[in-house]
Amino acid sequence: DVIDVRELANQGIFTYDPGFKATASCESAITYIDGEQGVLLHRGYPIDQLAKESNFIELCYALWYGELPNDDQYESFKTNISKHTMVHEQIVNFFRGFRRDAHPMAIMCGLVGGLGAFYHDNLDITDPEERRISAVRLIAKMPTLAAMCHKYSVGQPFNYPRNDLDYAENFLYMMFSTPCEDYKVNPVFAEAMDRIFMLHADHEQNASTSTVRLAGSTGANPFACISAGIAALWGPAHGGANEAVLATLDEIGDDSEENIQRYIEKAKDKDDPFRLMGFGHRVYKNFDPRAKVMKETCDEVLAEIGQSDNPRLKIAKRLEQIALEDEYFIERKLYPNVDFYSGIVLSAIGIPTNMFTVVFAVARTIGWISHWNEMLSNDFSIGRPRQLYVGYDKRDYPSK
Ligand code: ACO
Repeated sequence: DVIDVRELANQGIFTYDPGFKATASCESAITYIDGEQGVLLHRGYPIDQLAKESNFIELCYALWYGELPNDDQYESFKTNISKHTMVHEQIVNFFRGFRRDAHPMAIMCGLVGGLGAFYHDNLDITDPEERRISAVRLIAKMPTLAAMCHKYSVGQPFNYPRNDLDYAENFLYMMFSTPCEDYKVNPVFAEAMDRIFMLHADHEQNASTSTVRLAGSTGANPFACISAGIAALWGPAHGGANEAVLATLDEIGDDSEENIQRYIEKAKDKDDPFRLMGFGHRVYKNFDPRAKVMKETCDEVLAEIGQSDNPRLKIAKRLEQIALEDEYFIERKLYPNVDFYSGIVLSAIGIPTNMFTVVFAVARTIGWISHWNEMLSNDFSIGRPRQLYVGYDKRDYPSK
């Protein structure tokens, strides 16, 4: 049921909805979620079908244009992305200003915002073609920037992108290749990486996408808007959760029944700050459909490296099993979300923990920029929420 409250403002009335639990901020035709049923559709296509049949670049095309591409459209889109993977050589100088141990998400906020310095002048965001070029630049350059962050943190030279490789393959190549070792991308890892990108590509009006729309509603440069999205994604309640899941699994330590039960009780205890990271979701009150695909991907990758009995995976599976039978989790409809298994997969591929949220940002860029484009393609107002003022009444400044 939808109540349209737009007229209320003219009557001096406004609604109070902290956290926007019951407020739709826009109309959108990009992604549909039915949280009760555990359904996620991109442009009408179920995520599980996309994850099995499609690939990240095709999904990017569909999210941006609204339809799946034909063969020619796909090839030209893919080539276009490949041709924009390089970043301006001056970007290398940005790194000199960052500490070696800086969190890569902090660097990403700076780098992506900084792209505006290269592509701001003469950028007319009212022109659909210029918006499209900005989107292509962002999708193409995000893996390059992300891999540069990793290389900087480990003190290795940056790798230039290789346009003969697919999107996910190229990302893994830039992450792991060194001048001393001819890195061959494992096809199972590349497929898993591509699927991880797909599973994180868009999720309607989540906190970071809403941030991008809000920033974009002022007419801000798209690179600045995406930088704002990256900042919002960084939080542990959003994109930082998969990093936190691994910390939780490591803290739990072993998969014995008593031990897991102890942590389940801690998660239920309102006086204990411990939360079962990777569990619960604002919208899904059923299985997160992405979590199912992620769990399968996790099994595939761990089998590939001969670690089907990986201790973290054993703890995660046991934890899931016990939580799903527990009254507290059943009543509150708390199920594993996409992040519950993604950390284990990323870790098995070799991605360091501090890069997990960066990978999420690479994937979510298409969602952010598609929402930005959708907003600018239609009538929109500057996003400007009201507040419920709870401060002092008017009082006189004390005379001296
Ligand atoms: N462990 C224990 N209890 C939980 C958890 C959890 N992970 N998640 C929610 N609850 C409880 C809350 O304590 C609350 O209980 P109460 O009704 O007795 O007070 C109830 O379930 C509802 O939780 P809220 O925090 O009100 O739900 P909200 O929709 O605001 O939060 C959120 C959703 C932030 C995702 C929350 O479930 C959470 O913190 N989960 C862990 C972090 C996480 O995995 N985040 C990733 C989300 S997916 C993504 O961003 C890609």
